[in-house]
Order: sequence, then C-alpha cells, then structure tokens
Amino acid sequence: MAKLSIADLDLRNKRVLLRVDFNVPLRDGEVTDDTRIRAALPTIRYALERGGRLLCLSHLGRPKGKPDPALSLAPVAARLADLLGRPVPLAPDCVGEAAAAGAAALRPGDLLMLENCRFHPEEERNDESFSRALAALCDLYVNDAFGAAHRAHASTVGVARFVSVAAAGFLLLKELEYLGQLLEAPRRPFVAILGGATFLAAEGGSVGASRVERERLAAAKALAAEAQAGRVRLLLPSDHVIAERVEAGAPTRVVPRDGIPAGWMGLDIGPDTVARFGGEIGRAATIFWNGPLGVFEVKPFRAGTMAVAAAVAASGAVTVIGGGDTVAAVREAGVAERMTHLSTGGGASLEFLEGKVLPGVAALTEKPG
Ligand code: 3PG
Repeated sequence: MAKLSIADLDLRNKRVLLRVDFNVPLRDGEVTDDTRIRAALPTIRYALERGGRLLCLSHLGRPKGKPDPALSLAPVAARLADLLGRPVPLAPDCVGEAAAAGAAALRPGDLLMLENCRFHPEEERNDESFSRALAALCDLYVNDAFGAAHRAHASTVGVARFVSVAAAGFLLLKELEYLGQLLEAPRRPFVAILGGATFLAAEGGSVGASRVERERLAAAKALAAEAQAGRVRLLLPSDHVIAERVEAGAPTRVVPRDGIPAGWMGLDIGPDTVARFGGEIGRAATIFWNGPLGVFEVKPFRAGTMAVAAAVAASGAVTVIGGGDTVAAVREAGVAERMTHLSTGGGASLEFLEGKVLPGVAALTEKPG
C-alpha cells in the first residue's frame, strides 16, 4: 500500500516534526561524513520553502538512555547550518519545556534541531507517554529516517499513533523505490556482496584470532544450508591478508582459506579472492553491496575492498550500496558517482531486502484511495 508523502501535505504554518537519521560518524567533535545530512536536504528545504515550522529530530549513536555530551547533535546542527547557509539552533532536549517553547516560537520557514532522542530510555522502549510528548510538539509528522526505519522506537513508530498525519519524506520514498526494485524484479544474475566475519568459522575453518560473532555461528550455518537448498551460490574468501595487529605498520602475510594461524587475524580478502569475486561481479546484472571486505580504513588491509569497489563500478550492473562504511569505501575508491544508488540505510536496507516490513514504514499513514 502506498504511504502518504510529504508532497501530499499542506505545510504552511504547520509545526512539522521531521524524523531524520543524522546518526553520522564524528571525530573530535566534527562530522566526518555528512552523507546522511545531505540526503535529508531535499525534504528539509521543501518543508521550509512551503512555510512549515520545522522541528528536526534524530538519534546519534547509542547513549543507552542517558545524556552524553559526546553524542550531542551540536556538531550535526553546525554541519546542517553550513549546508543550508543559515543558523540551525539546537534545543537542549527533544521533549519537555525547552522543546515546547522552541516549537511554539517557530515562525513559518523556521527550523529548530532537537537534541538526541536516545538521551531518553523511553525512546528505544517505544514508550507511549514519550511518543505522546513527541507528538504534542507538532501538527504533522514526517519520517525521512530510512536508516532507522528498522527500529520500532518512539520517534519512528510510537509517535505516529498520536499525530493526525504521519507521512514519508523524499529520502525515505527514494530508498523504498530503489530498494523495492531490487526486491521485486532484479535483473539477474543478482550478486549480493556482504562483508562479515563469521561464515568461515561456521564452516569449521581455522580463523585464528579473527573477529567472529560467536552468537551468530548457528545462524550463519543455517543460512549456508538454506543457500545450498535454494540454489543460491554462497562464495566465501579463498585467501586472506592476515596480521597480528590492526596497525598500518604491522607485518602482513597472504594465506589460503584455512591457513590463519593462532594469534593472527584475517583483515582483508587476498588476491585470489579478489580475482574470483571480480569475475562474478563482472557477470552480474544487479549488485547489492553492504559491508567492506576488510579493515579498509587501515592501509595494508584496504586493497581487497578497493578492488571490489572498482569491479562493481566497472560492472555495468544496477549497483546499490548500503550502509555508511560501504558508502565511505566507494567514496575512498573514487567511484561513488558511478553507483546507481547509495543507500543511507545499513541494517535497514538489509532487513528490507530480506523481505521484512520495516516498522518505521508500516507506521505511516496510507495514501487515501
Ligand atoms: C544506523 O546507523 O544503521 C541507524 O542510524 C540505526 O542505528 P542503530 O543501529 O544504533 O539503531
């Protein structure tokens, strides 16, 4: 069923609560990748131009339900101000007096950023009175936070029950359109490239001191069996670049699949894997990529991810990249512009492509008729 869009609403003079996903990487109090902020600009600009009184709401990081100055949205508000070329004030809380007073003072075309909603434990609990408090700030609710649409939290789901209208923003709609095409009628061969750390261990291979999500081993085994039964070819790395430390100066070796000695970690795919994966990528008509193939941020372990990025760019396939790290990797490889779609969702894009209904989308108002 189609959801109501922000374009269907009369925003003039209305207090619009816009849930965005400004969960962006920070270093020393600065935003290091503003992709998610830029991606929300069309909706923000539209709401302001149409005379909305705009309240932007987001989470940042995982502050565990308590205020944490290191996870304040202040640097995000500053970056948004740079991008919009106008000041973006930040209310010190997303509910309560400060937020209410800020919302009441907004004039048409004004914008206020609200502080990190995860500073309240009620947010992740999808608490009803917290949802009501958020809803009380606004006349209309718009969700543009595709990256958080797989979370059933108060600001993504609960709030929608207590507002007259809950509509989708332009970014959310665009993500659903591109990812929906992959789900419904992908051109084949369809290759999914998924960075991960657990499948080889699930097969019983020796992975040394490599990162393994022990609690996911059973799930990885089950998936491998399911892939086999469903005629899906699951390709795992056949060689690795290994080291004892994740450091630029650490000595490295290339070893075959089962050859990671005790104390060493697999930190990138090796040249044989790059060649094999490159062949598959070259034959693909549709590619979805989520998760770098190694610790590409550290120089000795970046070659595999960079080579895969180049192969994806050269494939001629429909290419969709999901998640902040993978988007950062294709940017670093200098091929971001050659991708069909850079998704702002990591977990959200994966869950959507698994066929799950995203709670943040389900909560929105249906388009009439
Ligand atoms: C993301 O970065 O994937 C989203 O912002 C959701 O964040 P979360 O995994 O902390 O819920």
